[in-house]
Amino acid sequence: MLLKALFVLLLGLSVQFVFKTLLMMDINKRVYNHRPGECRKVEGPKDEEGFYPHGLSHWVMNDGTIRLFVVVHSKTFKHSVVILDYDDRKQHLNHVKTIRDDTFIRPNDIVATGENSFLLSNDGGAQTELGNMWEVISGFYRGGIVYFDGNKSHYLMENHVANGISLSRDGNTLFVSHINQETIGVYSWNQEKISLKKISEIETLTGCDNFYIDKDNHMWTGCHPVTKDVLAHFGNRSDPSLYGPSQVLRITFSKG
Ligand SMILES: *[C@@H]1O[C@H](CO)[C@@H](O)[C@H](O)[C@H]1NC(C)=O
Repeated sequence: MLLKALFVLLLGLSVQFVFKTLLMMDINKRVYNHRPGECRKVEGPKDEEGFYPHGLSHWVMNDGTIRLFVVVHSKTFKHSVVILDYDDRKQHLNHVKTIRDDTFIRPNDIVATGENSFLLSNDGGAQTELGNMWEVISGFYRGGIVYFDGNKSHYLMENHVANGISLSRDGNTLFVSHINQETIGVYSWNQEKISLKKISEIETLTGCDNFYIDKDNHMWTGCHPVTKDVLAHFGNRSDPSLYGPSQVLRITFSKG
């Protein structure tokens, strides 16, 4: 009798696990092309060898200099934040400093909050593809949000997936893409107290990557609607048959 009950319980849990995993991979989705206008490819400059930039943010300093904050992964997948000042006259980026910290576990996006401080997201903890597969399947995520105050780092959120992050124009609300859940978390951010508190969560039904908040506080975000396809693309970027569909959403928030 006990054995039978245990068997039913295990069967139930396995069915739930398989079902949840299938939903997370968006096995059930179909995507139709829909464009408001023509799409053109923007050719970028060639990256320097060994420089793999990821998230970007900027801060306008008191003297008007634009300071760039860049999440960089090395060829051996070591992580750092590189700070560069833009020389408008020479159109050069001058290296200011490179910051490495144990809390930059697997950095993805960054938001500058001052001349030397920033918020940073970790989109997981695993450093290898196999490890990442385990992290995704098991659901034991090791990502989150870190605040670097100029001298040291502070954990604001752990055991989550945080992909794109962005601050509202007034700097008091932080948006976090929990891409694994296909949700955007909305948090109130108090920089003086270094505190992050959850306000709400938006279900997007698509995996949103990075954000841009325009001057009217509309959020623009590039999203991956079919997780299994984008994972296949990331697994082999040179195979043109393995492409993940993508979409751009504009989100407008109600007052409060
Ligand atoms: C960082 O350290 C410097 C030198 O000790 C100090 O003057 C500054 O106030 C510190 N900044 C923060 C945000 O703790």
